[in-house]
Amino acid sequence: MKSILNILSSRVLASLRKIGAEGDPLVRQSADEKFGDYQSNCAMGLAKKLGQNPRDLAATIVEHLEVDDICDKVDIAGPGFLNFHLKPQFFAQGLQEIPSLPQDATIDRLGLSPASPSETVVVDMSSPNLAKEMHVGHLRSTVIGDAVARVLEFAGHNVIRENHVGDWGTQFGMLVAYLRREKPAVADDPESLEISDLEAFYVAAKKLFDSDEDFKTESRETVVALQQGDAATRLIWQAFCHESLRHCHAIYDRLDVKLIDRGESFYTEKMESAVATLDAMKEKDPQGFVRDSDGALCIFMDGFTTRDAEPLPLIVRKKDGGFNYATSDLATILHRLESLKATRVIYVVGIPQKQHFAMVFAAVRALGWAGEDISLEHLGFGSMLNKTGQPFKTREGGTVKLKSLLDEAVARARSVLTKSGAEDQPQNRDTMTSDQADAIAETVGLAAVKYFDLSHALSSDYKFDLDMMVSMEGNTAPYMLYAYARIRSIGRKAEIDWSLLSTDAPLVLEHPTEIALAKKVLQFAEVYDLLMRDLRLNVLTDYLYELSKTFSRFYDKKQGVRIIDASPDSVRISRLRLCDVTARTLKLGLQLLGIETVEKM
Ligand code: ARG
Repeated sequence: MKSILNILSSRVLASLRKIGAEGDPLVRQSADEKFGDYQSNCAMGLAKKLGQNPRDLAATIVEHLEVDDICDKVDIAGPGFLNFHLKPQFFAQGLQEIPSLPQDATIDRLGLSPASPSETVVVDMSSPNLAKEMHVGHLRSTVIGDAVARVLEFAGHNVIRENHVGDWGTQFGMLVAYLRREKPAVADDPESLEISDLEAFYVAAKKLFDSDEDFKTESRETVVALQQGDAATRLIWQAFCHESLRHCHAIYDRLDVKLIDRGESFYTEKMESAVATLDAMKEKDPQGFVRDSDGALCIFMDGFTTRDAEPLPLIVRKKDGGFNYATSDLATILHRLESLKATRVIYVVGIPQKQHFAMVFAAVRALGWAGEDISLEHLGFGSMLNKTGQPFKTREGGTVKLKSLLDEAVARARSVLTKSGAEDQPQNRDTMTSDQADAIAETVGLAAVKYFDLSHALSSDYKFDLDMMVSMEGNTAPYMLYAYARIRSIGRKAEIDWSLLSTDAPLVLEHPTEIALAKKVLQFAEVYDLLMRDLRLNVLTDYLYELSKTFSRFYDKKQGVRIIDASPDSVRISRLRLCDVTARTLKLGLQLLGIETVEKM
């Protein structure tokens, strides 16, 4: 299905071609209805280029424009803006073209085609360090990564979601040593390992590490044993990672996030071979861009310097012979490109790692490991701050566990949902049992957390404000879910089976609120195009908010129209169809964000 924007753009382009003034049609949605539904300011730029008067050029463009089938009129405003006023009938036709949902469909495509060609995309997401419990800092990567993956899957790509967990490194020596000391029986039987509070375990081990020299030495020896493949040490380490991942997956399941665990340890041998390749390059050309510096093996790339304007290398083997984070990311990229055959890799990791990824990507390019056909992207995001704008504590004692945060959101949603009669509460609530309310609160609470996160521009920090995110008013998940549930309740009251709703009956669009709603629904296609372009998820949340508001006006007793008891029957059916396609759009939009809808609220 082509979007309204696409259709209009190609009409304007055709007119431009006819008058020999080819250029970008510059069509966009009008911010104000006064200026029509869509507008274009292409005449201004083109007139300048052609040395013409912009208003005259605008008039010529309109003269050659073939839009009688879609526009009521095209105005020329100000210095030469084109304002397009679209025909309600054109919207009706657009809606008519949306196919009904096939019985066996796993997702409602609403007539939107997959992208071609389809690519293999790796989304590197979540990726906590397994030494500790997942904390609030891991929420963003998990939620954003999941939404990005869903959007790309919807577009028809083969998406591989990788949980690049930190499961290798010195902390694990410490943890294994600590387990041997504190729970020798478990250390002898690693399969019996069960740690209910990973965070407390880590904190205790770290405390001992910092205060006890003997333990420090033990920990170091354990790291060496682990790296040299000592079987007993490895078994304990494995059990520890397994236990830690079990904690993570409890959260992933709850958030309905699917992931493949492939942590840093998976790449230990691949690191050896990647570094061997680099060593060989260095041997061949000791003065090349891969060379030793201060005893470390380094890659020097153009464009990276220290504050003192000295070249800043990417270190791939430390002076002591050990590998680091960069080494592991180089090996990881090789695996993704060579074994997984990915042509696009997206790293959903916080902005503080911007420089790391910029350097790794530059190195991979300089080495010729990834050509122009490969896209490497760091989707960096801002921090989540607490309500007062301070960073959530991540180290020492004060860590906020992700699980507690989710529990709190659900509890808060539960109280908002059951608060009745309060003035700020919508009037049309469904009745439900306490069990139903519990289940709905779980969905709504998690939705609130996800939605709030995704509704902020990726790169900005945001304050985690539970009151705001569970509010039934504003750009929040509860508001969206409520709009959806209203439509479902209309269906229950009208006693209709949505799937049997005739799609042949004509759509009658007369009332301003129904015309506005039809237009909004159709504009989803534009949001989809935008998402494909730059994965800005808040474009989708903004749209869903607009759609819900437009629906609320249509449904409003005073401003809107009658639906269930509208007459004649053709109008009633038409409005019910409009409700249905609105609900389908809301549902799809939320699904792409990883948010489940509820039938009652
Ligand atoms: N484990 C890392 C951290 O917690 C994030 C890993 C991101 N992915 C990557 N390929 N480097 O900071």
